[in-house]
Amino acid sequence: MPSVDSVKVAVRVRPFSQREKDAGSKCVISMNSNSTSIYDPRNPEHVKTFTFDLAFWSHSGFLKDKNGVLVPAGCNSYAGQREVFHDLGEGVLESAWQGYNATLLAYGQTGSGKSYSMIGYGANRGIVPAVCEELFKATQSGEENKQYQITFSMLEIYNEQVIDLLAKTRKPGGLKIREDQQQGFYVDGLKLVPCDSYAQIERLMEQGNKMRTTATTTMNATSSRSHMVITVQFKQIFLDEAITKQSIINLVDLAGSERQKSAGPEKDRLKEGTRVNLSLTTLGNVISALAEVATGKKVLHIPYRDSVLTKLLQSALGGNSRTIMIAAVSPADICYEETLSTLRYAERAKKIRNKAVVNSSPTEKLIQELKAENNKLLGRLAGLRSTGTLVDDETQELRCLVAGNEQRLRSAQDTWEARLEAARGEWQQQRAALAQERQMMETFPYLLNINEDPQLSWVLKYFIQDGSCDVGQSTSNAIILRGFGILDKHATFTNTDGEVTLTPGHKCKATVNGVPITGKTKLQHLDRVILGSSSAFLYIGPPAERTDEDLSRYDYDFFQSELAAAGGFSLDKLGAAGSKESRADPSILAVFHDYIKLLPLVAEVNQMSEELKKDLMFELKVKNLALSDSRGYDLQKEVVVRVTHVTTHQVWVWSQAKFMNRKVLMEELYQRLRAGEAAPAGRERDPFWEPPEAVHLGRAHVWLEALAHRAPLRQRAALRDHQGLRQARLLLALRPCGARGRLFGEDDMVMDPLELLGRRVDFQVHMVECRGVKWLREAAGRGIQIGYRVYDLPRCLYTKPVWKNVNPKIDETVQFSALKASYEFLNYLQKNALIIDLWGLQEGCVEMGCSFEGLPLTPEGAVLLDSPNALTAGDAGPDPSSPMSKLYQKLLRVEEETEQLREVNRALRDENLLLKDKLKWDTSHCEKTESESPTKAIEVTEETLSFREAEGRRSPRTSWDAEFAKALKIFYQNMSVVREQFLELKHLRPPVSQPSTLLQFISVATGAPFLTPRSFVLALGICKREVSITDRVSSHHFSPSMRLPLSMHFVQPWRHKDLETL
Ligand SMILES: Nc1ncnc2c1ncn2[C@@H]1O[C@H](COP(=O)(O)OP(=O)(O)O)[C@@H](O)[C@H]1O
Ligand SMILES: [Mg+2]
Repeated sequence: MPSVDSVKVAVRVRPFSQREKDAGSKCVISMNSNSTSIYDPRNPEHVKTFTFDLAFWSHSGFLKDKNGVLVPAGCNSYAGQREVFHDLGEGVLESAWQGYNATLLAYGQTGSGKSYSMIGYGANRGIVPAVCEELFKATQSGEENKQYQITFSMLEIYNEQVIDLLAKTRKPGGLKIREDQQQGFYVDGLKLVPCDSYAQIERLMEQGNKMRTTATTTMNATSSRSHMVITVQFKQIFLDEAITKQSIINLVDLAGSERQKSAGPEKDRLKEGTRVNLSLTTLGNVISALAEVATGKKVLHIPYRDSVLTKLLQSALGGNSRTIMIAAVSPADICYEETLSTLRYAERAKKIRNKAVVNSSPTEKLIQELKAENNKLLGRLAGLRSTGTLVDDETQELRCLVAGNEQRLRSAQDTWEARLEAARGEWQQQRAALAQERQMMETFPYLLNINEDPQLSWVLKYFIQDGSCDVGQSTSNAIILRGFGILDKHATFTNTDGEVTLTPGHKCKATVNGVPITGKTKLQHLDRVILGSSSAFLYIGPPAERTDEDLSRYDYDFFQSELAAAGGFSLDKLGAAGSKESRADPSILAVFHDYIKLLPLVAEVNQMSEELKKDLMFELKVKNLALSDSRGYDLQKEVVVRVTHVTTHQVWVWSQAKFMNRKVLMEELYQRLRAGEAAPAGRERDPFWEPPEAVHLGRAHVWLEALAHRAPLRQRAALRDHQGLRQARLLLALRPCGARGRLFGEDDMVMDPLELLGRRVDFQVHMVECRGVKWLREAAGRGIQIGYRVYDLPRCLYTKPVWKNVNPKIDETVQFSALKASYEFLNYLQKNALIIDLWGLQEGCVEMGCSFEGLPLTPEGAVLLDSPNALTAGDAGPDPSSPMSKLYQKLLRVEEETEQLREVNRALRDENLLLKDKLKWDTSHCEKTESESPTKAIEVTEETLSFREAEGRRSPRTSWDAEFAKALKIFYQNMSVVREQFLELKHLRPPVSQPSTLLQFISVATGAPFLTPRSFVLALGICKREVSITDRVSSHHFSPSMRLPLSMHFVQPWRHKDLETL
């Protein structure tokens, strides 16, 4: 009878990693009995609770005992390795004893603790060793009439290739999967090692791990993308009953489940890289399909055959196996998305129902059959004898048959003994080698490998014996090292009486403690050595130099941080260093860790590019996202990869995701080429190749707030790159205007933007010129285009391309129109900036389209910013008969009439003022000095002057309204400068921890109280009202500049000097 049970699921949450602690992470997981809850760090009320068979709290409440084992501190709910084995491992053992197949899968993102639970670290042994040890303990109890046969195998699936981790030589292309009627899928030629003690298994696991570690460096493979499958076959032969029970125990440490992110907004031309883990994707599909089957849905096909892993696990999933899944999760808030996805995956898995049966293997059947046949033959012989009908020939024949059968029976049993004996021999040899290694560790200095995967660190040791020893790819070296950037003869270590020096060969890359070395360098105990692009080693000095220091701090992260720091990149540089009390900004820490993670990968890609003569150089750049946010709030940064062609100077910028995707494909190509295969034809398939593209060079923010008051703005904006460096300067003007494009003057300005609510608002963006464009200066044959997006237009607008001119004149004007300014629109103008992008064009790249195609236009040709349905793209004009069109025409007429009325009003007011002035002049004869004049005070910036000139000077004295408008205009111009500087400050992140301190700092720097533009405008408004009242009650001359002290501060030239001293 099959036992029908669901897949048993357990969740385990690990302690914070050092990285998470540094980032000041918060724990988002809580557990209560067998339920696990996760809360969304951005929305803590949003909690999701999952109920699984078991929940292991391994996050906190533990201490290290004297052997280094993590145990519960007092009586609390901490689940250490022992508890996990007790709850899961013992179930596996029980199934095995009963003759059921058992499978244990560890699922979770890289670094979540899969290997910790399965294999374990040091004294904290995982389930696999514990299960094996317990199994042997029980089999050695010496039960009579029972024999046990245990075989062990260990394989890895990488890129759909099966690698035997116990084989001495590696089969190119990996082992084949075959299908057998009775056995199902199996790996053809996999080494199954018979074992009769746990010590043997321990050695085999060590051997397998060594093989895995060597493979990652030789093949430049990443262990997190590979699946490791350990299989223990356990047979119990009951001699009396002639029954054999057989159980196959599969222990699977799956590849990291982190979702392959899409290659960012630009998407990658080559998609295969992201599909690389076919096995993991298919496992997900199989689980989903089986979960549907369990809920009664009709599923036609379960895609077991789509990947190597699912073929091998077919019986574990919905078949003849008792299956357990352990979902390993990180507790940290930064892993929230991945953890949630792991829990959802586990939830699907728990629905799967398996039908396990007690197994008897074909070999045992054969033995049983042979025995049964022999019994029959012997019975017949006895029968013949007793009836006296014995014929010599017949007896002879029967005896032959019996003897033949017995021989076959013996050989079936002997094979096991013989195989076991051979395995014991190998094991003895390994034990001797291990003893020798231990002895050498006590005698010589050595290099200890450090891998990205902590499970594969400290696995390989290279001894530096007395004299000199060469290191490199060639087999003639004393230490043979494979890996990116390691040359045939790469370096020489010399050991003279315990003093060790390292001398790299000519043009051979080597770094010690992060610093590149070229000549002979003396090594000291615990120096960090990197050879080639990424082969990292911790140098263990001769015994006399050694200390008790804990070596675990020298992990892969340590090496990479050191390398980054030596290259001038550090947390402080990123502006994340918090004061002692305040922790560093987690988002910046995340960027730092991304950078550290990518650093060795970039080195590897550069190495591949060099070896394959691709002429490409890859560099990491930190991109400042404050530049992409139209409100300038975003302090986030991200890491991008800049690719430069060394000879053509072509440039590409790749997102992290695109780079990761390409790296996988590059590795594949590199390995194929090294294996002597021909390169795939056509550059389209080449992961190094990319068509020339327009490169984003820089960005500027031009604040639109002036337009909310219908004030014009002329600005020379700095276009800065991701690092805040100026790439060019752009002169542009924002000009409020009427529907037909007549530019508004100062008298048209409004004090309160709400006055524009519901009215038609038009303005022009005039791109004048771009100066000092670095991109154009750096290489010939380049061009630029300017792109910007206004409000919620569906796409960017681009100016016409200008090629090969360092100071390109652009001189393009586009008019925008909101027919009925909504609250949102006015809010947009007040709070947002126009983001202007500078794009670098290079030979052969596609220029950005500069037509208005696809954008709704008004009949006058302005780009329509609201009611996009009113006028659709490409329309020759609105249908004059439609009601919308009629309304629109009416609106236009009203607009025009208002315009005319305003004109009249303006003329009257001017006249009135002239008369007033004349009157004052005549009566007082009081001549004002130029220095007191408010006009003088506002003419301080170059931009203002030229703007004034552009508009033409009007009467020598203007209205209070006009003075107010001028003050406002200058205020906005200065505000733009302030904002730009503020943005710059955000890039630089001055060492102040509190935002309020930052504001104080800025207000000191500007010499003005730091006010929001809105409150400033209000203040101006109040003063203005007072002015007009005073004006009405007294006929005394009154200068608004005297009554508007705030404006005075802002009309002062911006004190750049103060900021430069930053
Ligand atoms: N339960 C745990 N208790 C203590 N440390 C853990 C635990 N789980 C994982 N770790 C540590 O976290 C790191 C990553 O764990 P690992 O098992 O290698 O992750 P994975 O195999 O999922 O990539 C290792 O340094 C490991 O020692
Ligand atoms: Mg692992």
